[in-house]
Amino acid sequence: KLKTKSVYTCNECGASSPKWVGQCPSCGAWNTLYETTVTPAAHVRAGGRYGAPAEVHNLAEVSAEKIYRHPTGISELDRVLGGGLVAGSVVLIGGDPGIGKSTLLTQAMATIGQVAKVLYVSGEESSDQIALRAQRLGLRGDRLRLLTENQVETILASAQNEQPQVIVVDSIQTMYTEILQSAPGSVAQVRESAAQLVRYAKQTGTALFLVGHVTKEGTLAGPRVLEHMVDTVLYFEGDTGSAFRIIRAIKNRFGAVNEIGVFAMTETGLREVGNPSSMFLSRQGDAVPGSIVLATQEGTRPLLVEVQALVDQSHLGNPRRVCVGLDTNRLAMLLAVLHRHAGIATYDQDVFVNVVGGVRVLETAADLAILAATVSSLRNRPLGKDLVAFGEVGLAGEVRPVQRGQERIREAAKLGFKRALVPAANMPKKGDAGIELLPVRRLTEALEILG
Ligand code: TYD
Ligand code: MG
Repeated sequence: KLKTKSVYTCNECGASSPKWVGQCPSCGAWNTLYETTVTPAAHVRAGGRYGAPAEVHNLAEVSAEKIYRHPTGISELDRVLGGGLVAGSVVLIGGDPGIGKSTLLTQAMATIGQVAKVLYVSGEESSDQIALRAQRLGLRGDRLRLLTENQVETILASAQNEQPQVIVVDSIQTMYTEILQSAPGSVAQVRESAAQLVRYAKQTGTALFLVGHVTKEGTLAGPRVLEHMVDTVLYFEGDTGSAFRIIRAIKNRFGAVNEIGVFAMTETGLREVGNPSSMFLSRQGDAVPGSIVLATQEGTRPLLVEVQALVDQSHLGNPRRVCVGLDTNRLAMLLAVLHRHAGIATYDQDVFVNVVGGVRVLETAADLAILAATVSSLRNRPLGKDLVAFGEVGLAGEVRPVQRGQERIREAAKLGFKRALVPAANMPKKGDAGIELLPVRRLTEALEILG
């Protein structure tokens, strides 16, 4: 008879302990240990015997051409996937509840469903709710197979019957496997359920989408335990107040990371935004102080976004530095550089900086634009509407070159901008850029040009 034994698994970090303790010895969280029973695997029971040998290959014999990609019919999604969905690959889509994960996947599955067999498994919504959404999206449901179920074993048995080429599991936090006793949504359940689904996907060559809700702390519940098990991790981001949604590849075994896809949430679902630069630049009317256009770079794609700053006299001993879509520590550093190297003090001023449209810009190429907008607001002098800027600002007050300068300049010229403030080291060697370039080596030079 098999001997099963109990272990205690932490809900926060997934570490296990042979006996129950109040505090997890691994991550220090309190009251997070749950009892789970494990049955030793067969080869362990047999006393350490080895399994049957598997076939080993020479790398040269393996053909990489076998990778087959299904286009999802949504080109912004295909872009972040690296050119379509790879058969047998597992994609984790994370994001806040209500951001549009189910909407995106329903739309994608309705299209893939025209050419491949797809199975949409929902553990959150009833069939009626899903049908209602599909109706609202104006989708044909004739090729989309639907299953509302939470138990992994049942899902896999149904998948064996249906033999789909693509499976969506929405969401992994609602799934549970009967081999564990802990509650659905616990780290142990999320990890084990995902492991079983991933194993099935790999064995059968089925493409699998796992939907994961992000918790308040900004991590996928089951802190990152899924990220290493899957091939691709996509995050869905955006302000709930704004219609823009950005899907970003954080990890991709079949494509580039940091690639983004841009969507707008409309009454009839997610609409692709093919030219995001023009979308994020909803600038109308006259130029106002504190605003400048930044040429940023998202993956392989240049993106123009408006950076706004508001500098206002502070009545606090500790003036406020607030960033939306940018790094607050970086802002504090840039303000110190501004004081030390350009003699412009902001210690008695509150400084607010915002990227319009809910975009997050975490690259240092935003430095020059942040300081230009800040100084423009401080002096109450607008910068020209035809101006873009990019460049990193170093602690010595120097303007440093950034990656892909040429692409940024080209995108600005393409969208009709007339002048670009750029790091001198990013100047093109030859040729007409189609835009007046203002090369700068130091922050002071840049501020002089801006006046
Ligand atoms: P949903 O895809 O259910 O989010 P998630 O699966 O990430 O939790 O999207 C929910 C939100 O999207 C909801 O607030 C309503 C909005 N929405 C639209 O604006 N238009 C639409 O066509 C649909 C289907 C949803
Ligand atoms: Mg959902």
